[in-house]
Amino acid sequence: MEALLLFIAIFSVATVRCESLAWSVVASNRTTFTLRNNCQYTVWPGTLSGNGAAVLGGGGFELAPHDVISFSAPPGWSGRFWARTGCSFSNNTAVGPKCATGDCGGELNCTLGGTPPVTLAEFTLANQANEKDFYDVSLVDGYNVGIGITALGKLPKGSSCGYAGCVSDVNARCPPELRVKKRNTTETIACMSACEAFQTDQYCCTGDHSVPRSCGPTKYSKLFKAACPSAYSYAYDDPTSTFTCSAGTKYLVTFCPSGATAKAAHFWPRLPGHFLHH
Ligand SMILES: *[C@@H]1O[C@H](CO)[C@@H](O)[C@H](O)[C@H]1NC(C)=O
Ligand SMILES: *[C@@H]1O[C@H](CO)[C@@H](O)[C@H](O)[C@H]1NC(C)=O
Ligand SMILES: *[C@@H]1O[C@H](CO)[C@@H](O)[C@H](O)[C@H]1NC(C)=O
Ligand SMILES: *[C@@H]1O[C@H](CO)[C@@H](O)[C@H](O)[C@H]1NC(C)=O
Repeated sequence: MEALLLFIAIFSVATVRCESLAWSVVASNRTTFTLRNNCQYTVWPGTLSGNGAAVLGGGGFELAPHDVISFSAPPGWSGRFWARTGCSFSNNTAVGPKCATGDCGGELNCTLGGTPPVTLAEFTLANQANEKDFYDVSLVDGYNVGIGITALGKLPKGSSCGYAGCVSDVNARCPPELRVKKRNTTETIACMSACEAFQTDQYCCTGDHSVPRSCGPTKYSKLFKAACPSAYSYAYDDPTSTFTCSAGTKYLVTFCPSGATAKAAHFWPRLPGHFLHH
């Protein structure tokens, strides 16, 4: 009798386990993004999906220093994350920007992209299990907060998922002509791209400079590259600034990553990059 009861008990636990396992197999088809605020200050991450893909994290939220948030995305999801700084959403009646950098039309829940200069983490997830995810960090729209992307956990076989992004702060080394200062202060809160600052074909890779051959790195893009070695520093930067990883990988997006964050990341050899930009 006792043995039978034990058997029934084990059997029912096993049944529950199986059901949750079956559910998690379905759920694990989704990609988990974890966003971590390593900055000394609060950031308000914005999320924007491309091509009508699912809205993640409500489009935007507050993330205090050292806070972490996770959410999942369906296969084939494509979009971007960025950090907003110096936000105040308490006064809902005022129109206009509510954040000093990265503002998305004055809303907490973004339905628009962030106002440049803004650092972007960009993802295009695999649709099928045998396809790859693509990701990169882009400074093509300038820089406000450092971002690092790390593939987490045991990487699927055949993955080549490198650390994408920054190892130090661009604002600290931003040349005077590109600096964006906090209102009525001398504090640099963002660094414009040379394209945004000077609006020339040479810096924007337009006109006579509209193909990779005629749009090389500049003294400005090199400066961005030094702080963010594995990020796009201008429109036709080294295609290997795009990384690929197997479908189903979990990603950690860190705001204000340090050199140590990058070193802790997996340093797998990179595949020849695919070109996401332009
Ligand atoms: C905004 O996003 C938050 C999550 O960050 C969500 O709780 C809230 O319902 C959203 N608000 C609107 C108006 O969509
Ligand atoms: C809120 O917005 C209104 C209208 O723009 C403005 O008059 C008021 O000073 C603002 N209040 C705060 C606390 O910022
Ligand atoms: C998700 O699951 C479906 C159905 O099992 C499968 O066809 C597809 O390849 C999976 N996608 C990914 C990215 O794993
Ligand atoms: C910035 O300075 C101007 C003029 O000096 C002043 O009118 C304005 O109120 C200041 N703004 C803030 C946010 O302190």
